[in-house]
Amino acid sequence: MSFKVGVIRGDGIGPEIVAEAVKVLDKVAQKYGEEFQYTDILLGGASIDACGEPLTKEALETAGSCDAVLMGSIGGNTSTSPWYKLPANLRPEAGLLAIRKGLGLFANMRPAYLYEELKDACPLREDIIGDGFDFVVMRELTGGLYFGDRKTYVEEGVTKAMDTLTYSEDEIRRIAVRAFDIAMKRKKKVTSVDKANVLDSSRLWRKVVNEVAKDYPEVELEHMLVDNCAMQLVRDPKQFDVILTENMFGDILSDEASMVTGSIGMLSSASLREGTFGLYEPSHGSAPDIAGKNIANPIATILSASMMLRYSFNMDEAADAVDAAVKQVLKDGYRTVDIMSEGMKKVGTREMGDRIVERI
Ligand code: IPM
Ligand code: MG
Repeated sequence: MSFKVGVIRGDGIGPEIVAEAVKVLDKVAQKYGEEFQYTDILLGGASIDACGEPLTKEALETAGSCDAVLMGSIGGNTSTSPWYKLPANLRPEAGLLAIRKGLGLFANMRPAYLYEELKDACPLREDIIGDGFDFVVMRELTGGLYFGDRKTYVEEGVTKAMDTLTYSEDEIRRIAVRAFDIAMKRKKKVTSVDKANVLDSSRLWRKVVNEVAKDYPEVELEHMLVDNCAMQLVRDPKQFDVILTENMFGDILSDEASMVTGSIGMLSSASLREGTFGLYEPSHGSAPDIAGKNIANPIATILSASMMLRYSFNMDEAADAVDAAVKQVLKDGYRTVDIMSEGMKKVGTREMGDRIVERI
């Protein structure tokens, strides 16, 4: 078959890590007799520089016409880049939020898996790591605080800023259904994370999640307050299977989850809606400080491409082969600097990509 893949190279390390993921897709195409047609799409700083805005209408339409979109990362140094002198709605991140919203990608899946080989890179104590852990953060991606009304204003001579957090029961239900569906294919446990002791939106969240849970009697559901969850992630990450949570909590907890797996350079993500379309991107940012140095870890982007094969193209066998190649490369001792440990072989971005391609 032939699939149309939108490619957002983005900013910072984005172009370097996407190049490695494309190499992986090319190898998959060759091996499995499929065809990927790539279409470049501008987003973030690259789009600001070329078109004066972080996401053009044309770019959004092009993305929507693809079967799936592979993305690097966007944004620059918030203290020094001229992009951050622009009004907030014209900055790189506004483009990312707009493409997620514009394509209706409400379900963001971020798997956190500790590779046996990377136990040394995990900052947790050995007795906490135990046999390792394997969980998924299901983050609601198009609602809540990041999409609510906001303003900065002056009242009686005092400057104030306001952001609003709103969720409808439908928005909560559809992400909860996705989380329970995924739990059914895993260890059948959902931890729904909220702040129901304070927030109305969280009390509605809890109520709707309880309703959805009735359709999944085999899945164990627990509710956890977000502050407790932040603590439990470093105290005992093994307890989790699927963490279901709203947009901002998921943003924060997924960074924490990635760090307990050793490096944020390892964590992939899929942003999904109903159907097979998805946008696949590493969970990490554009790391402008190390851009262009051939030292960034491309694995999170390569694993995101693997999720694309699995969830958008129904190519489970190829996805398994990519995941296995990543595992094998780690087993063979290759490490980018962020996951380097004693006795291992240090490689750059391109060589890491090559070593993975060889093993597919
Ligand atoms: C992420 C990022 C984005 C988010 C930023 C860049 C807007 O942190 O994908 O987690 O908060 O969603
Ligand atoms: Mg984030």
